[in-house]
Amino acid sequence: MVQFRLPKNSRITEGRTWPGPESAARVKEFRIYRYDPETGDNPRIDTYYIDLDDCGPMVLNALIKIKDEVDSTLTFRRSCREGICGSCAMNIDGENTLACLKPIDEIDGPVKVYPLPHMQVVKDLVPDLTLLYAQHRLIEPWLKTDTPEPEREWLQSKEERARLDGLYECILCFCCATSCPSYWWNSDRYLGPAVLLQAWRWIADSRDEAAGERLDALDDPFRLYRCHTILNCARVCPKGLNPAKAIAEIKKTLAERKL
Ligand code: SF4
Ligand code: SF4
Ligand code: FES
Repeated sequence: MVQFRLPKNSRITEGRTWPGPESAARVKEFRIYRYDPETGDNPRIDTYYIDLDDCGPMVLNALIKIKDEVDSTLTFRRSCREGICGSCAMNIDGENTLACLKPIDEIDGPVKVYPLPHMQVVKDLVPDLTLLYAQHRLIEPWLKTDTPEPEREWLQSKEERARLDGLYECILCFCCATSCPSYWWNSDRYLGPAVLLQAWRWIADSRDEAAGERLDALDDPFRLYRCHTILNCARVCPKGLNPAKAIAEIKKTLAERKL
């Protein structure tokens, strides 16, 4: 039988085990992916032990404690520490999520922490998001109008504003895009759930006057139609959003336009 293995330089090796606290009642093991492309070394898993009675409740608290007190070389992104900025998205216990919203107590056994999957790694838990940001820019995520600007704000009815619920809350963490198998295989041409949810957010906005050209730009077998409704995106979104539904709305609007 044919066996597929990662190339030699991509195979993950066992890394260093750091000493834990000398006396602690509740010690948790953290197994964390480490990779520095500049060294030429293979990625490795380092093991750390944290006293849970001397650490905040979330995985991000443990990562910060490790960086501050054990191993300052551990690299990860974070900013708001309350699920607002989207910086701390990573794969924890096998699922993409925000480290600042993931309680350590929810995880049985060692806490396994990896970067978001199927992305180039800049260092350790930091993925390269260049392509996703370029794709976000492609959908022109700003209000486009022909009508002269009003003297005060652009008005919306309550119903028009309500159409943006479930869309405006997206924090662009990309947990969804990096859990989407279609995006893994076609990320060079498929826009993926995060960017398509953003695209629908602008098409659905009553104040925007460019819906036609926005739809034209999406009417493409790869940009939009690589979504096969697998629904990984909706399952992992830490904000409880449903990108698959937004994608379905774009497809429906395009289909209605052709009638
Ligand atoms: S529903 Fe579409 S966008 Fe969401 S995970 Fe599946 S293929 Fe990807
Ligand atoms: S839809 Fe959810 S998972 Fe996807 S980028 Fe937005 S907040 Fe993150
Ligand atoms: S640190 Fe901002 S979302 Fe986690």
